Amino acid sequence: TLGNLREFKSGTLRLAVVTTSKYFIPHLLGPFCEQFPDIDIQLTIGNREQTIERMKQGIDDFYVFSHPPRDIEAHSLEFLENPLVAIAHQDHPLAKQSTISLAQLCEAPFLMREKGSGTRYAIESLLKQHKLQANIKMTIESNEAIKHSVMSKLGISIISAHTLTYGGQSGLVRLPVNELPIDSHWFFMWSSSKRPTLIASAFLEHIETNGRELLQNELDKSALV
Ligand code: PGA
Repeated sequence: TLGNLREFKSGTLRLAVVTTSKYFIPHLLGPFCEQFPDIDIQLTIGNREQTIERMKQGIDDFYVFSHPPRDIEAHSLEFLENPLVAIAHQDHPLAKQSTISLAQLCEAPFLMREKGSGTRYAIESLLKQHKLQANIKMTIESNEAIKHSVMSKLGISIISAHTLTYGGQSGLVRLPVNELPIDSHWFFMWSSSKRPTLIASAFLEHIETNGRELLQNELDKSALV
């Protein structure tokens, strides 16, 4: 109908995504906006806890997590893998070893994300499982700042491999830790009580038909993964 068309032309797609997914979400939005040039996009980026809070308030069309909240009723679409890998500066002593145990990794000064981060949650779960503790030297609220701190030889870290795609891996190596990567996955989630807008439905279709493959290819290309 005409009303539907108008909604399409002038509508807004609202996304709230966790920080680690900001490396690929724009690459989904580019081709989508080429198809629908007149829509507006609102992209909010926060850590896991902040994104869960927005979801509870029902603010956005879609939420992206790799560790979805279990206590909120919602639809979800698993769409991509999210390996968490250990990274070090290429001159780091551990970078010379052909295999490393998680216990060895835990001795090296470690750069950790803040409380409320899904990345931190995943690392802590793995370490707990192996009864280990990281030697935390710095707590850093940003994936970029962690990467740059690793480049600056401040320590090592475990980080989503997506942060290393699209050229973002200069001077870094991936450490071959036996217990890694942590195999998590990305999920799009949306409310099961609201009818998705036309734009939201079109976006979901775009993820299924083009997006998934595009992002998987980029992840496969990244030499560190
Ligand atoms: P975060 O993102 O570390 O920025 O919270 C990853 C996740 O939530 O899984």
